Amino acid sequence: MTDPTAPAASGLSKGLTSYGDREFSLFLRKAFIKGAGYTDTALERPVVGIVDTGSAYNPCHGNAPQLIEAVKRGVMLAGGLPMAFPTISIHESYAQPTSMYLRNLMSIDTEEMIRAQPMDAVVLIGGCDKTVPAQLMGAASAGIPAIQLITGSMLTGSHRGERVGACTDCRRYWGRYRADEIDANEIAAVNEQLVASVGTCSVMGTASTMACIAEALGMTVPGGASAPAVTADRIRIAETTGTQAVRIARERLTIDQVLTAAAFENAMRVLLAIGGSTNGLVHLTAIAGRMGFEVDLHALDRMSRETPVLLDLKPSGAHYMEDFHHAGGMATLLRELKSLLHLDALTVSGRTLGEEIERAGSGFRQDVVRPLSNPIYAQGGIAVLHGNLAPGGAIIKQSAADAKLMEHEGRAVVFENAQDLAARIDSAELDVHADDVLVLKNIGPKGAPGMPEAGYLPIPLKLARAGVKDMLRISDGRMSGTAFGTIVLHVTPESAIGGPLAHVRNGDRIALSVARRELTLQVPADELARRATASPVEPPSADRGYRKLFLQTVTQADQGVDFDFLRCAQRRGAVPRSK
Ligand code: FES
Repeated sequence: MTDPTAPAASGLSKGLTSYGDREFSLFLRKAFIKGAGYTDTALERPVVGIVDTGSAYNPCHGNAPQLIEAVKRGVMLAGGLPMAFPTISIHESYAQPTSMYLRNLMSIDTEEMIRAQPMDAVVLIGGCDKTVPAQLMGAASAGIPAIQLITGSMLTGSHRGERVGACTDCRRYWGRYRADEIDANEIAAVNEQLVASVGTCSVMGTASTMACIAEALGMTVPGGASAPAVTADRIRIAETTGTQAVRIARERLTIDQVLTAAAFENAMRVLLAIGGSTNGLVHLTAIAGRMGFEVDLHALDRMSRETPVLLDLKPSGAHYMEDFHHAGGMATLLRELKSLLHLDALTVSGRTLGEEIERAGSGFRQDVVRPLSNPIYAQGGIAVLHGNLAPGGAIIKQSAADAKLMEHEGRAVVFENAQDLAARIDSAELDVHADDVLVLKNIGPKGAPGMPEAGYLPIPLKLARAGVKDMLRISDGRMSGTAFGTIVLHVTPESAIGGPLAHVRNGDRIALSVARRELTLQVPADELARRATASPVEPPSADRGYRKLFLQTVTQADQGVDFDFLRCAQRRGAVPRSK
């Protein structure tokens, strides 16, 4: 029987394998690890697990070996024992059908390996889009002291004297190639330059967004978001992360003390102020759900109206992540946002966010982070829409949209799914005009499945060749954080479960008013009901395996597309909290 007054198990004694004899379990565990040459002195130290997500399929994590070496150095300098272990790694371009389909699997892997193996704290090494949210979701559920280490952004390349970087410039050049503005030789030359080193995408895409969110949540060491992957700064951050991991292990600074309502509100402010990826909202919702918080989309929209975009990074602005780092990184941004933040939120450093901002010192002249008095965009990057087409909400990245299309009404040109889109979008016969509204169904959480980043519908070829650069596009899917355009996403509930989007037909009129936050299908309710009865929707299903689990349990965008059984059963309220 367990002695309730006995100190909690730590180090190698934690979470012993069940053989029915505690001492024998520890004896056996030590025998095996001694096979790797460890001494008793080493095994008595606090154990810091290091999640190794290095993979040949993931160049965004190509610096993982150097980071792990530096984390280990930091852990040992602080008197801990580093233990690296692998989990799934997910890269955007190497995950079929879509990386989002695997995010929850990676979070389960992360959570269960943290639970299963003895460690007093864990360093999560992530970077590529889905990896950081998966790790934070898993660590939030595992509940031990945890600290996030970002792999860092890639360097920018150069094409004919123009600076380029993945992946806003990937889409821009591909659009020019589709419009016959550049030839096959030039697009091949561009391909060599878009990813100039290992590391994550160099613009404010989802990876950079999640890096900034992780720091705003208090889950990284100060400055942990912005240092490029191949810099000495990044290696020093890794060493410091290792040192801090030992401290949080000793202090038992568990993740629930960091991931509070105040921390999530700070992260939402930052998401809005950086013109962050719309995916950031889905991921933040999922992480919050693991801690028992719901995201109140109406309150988030109110927050958005009073949070200007300050960060001048592509795709909303002009610069790249390495420029943000040279401009002081998150300290510069947080200093500007100070009046809008909860400065008393605790971070993994053991200090509050306000104390960290003070420690970073005064700012300096730079042109990447604007002052509150002169923002890039007067409101937050993301606006939340509601209406009969999206009763559960939809979003638009207004800072990356065409101002002329934000109050728009047009005729729907409907594609039933991604295959239908691919088959017809470039057809000369497609009946489409520049002021039409492109609608894509069945790319929501269950529809594709995995809510692919197909919401960035291409401009139909004949219109692209005629010089059309943007159109209003609507779907229940996501889009890459590196994309831009007047694109309504995350329409909830999705069409695959019978949401109103399922019943939109060619020629219906759709109205968007970002000013009023409305998305309206101009079809009477009784006609929509008649269509729903005439063409009932059969939600997709699968016979076995992960796909079956996914389709049976995945939630909608407003719950973070997490599996329902992974969300925290104990609800702790909504964020942002109403004032
Ligand atoms: Fe990994 Fe963009 S593909 S961050």
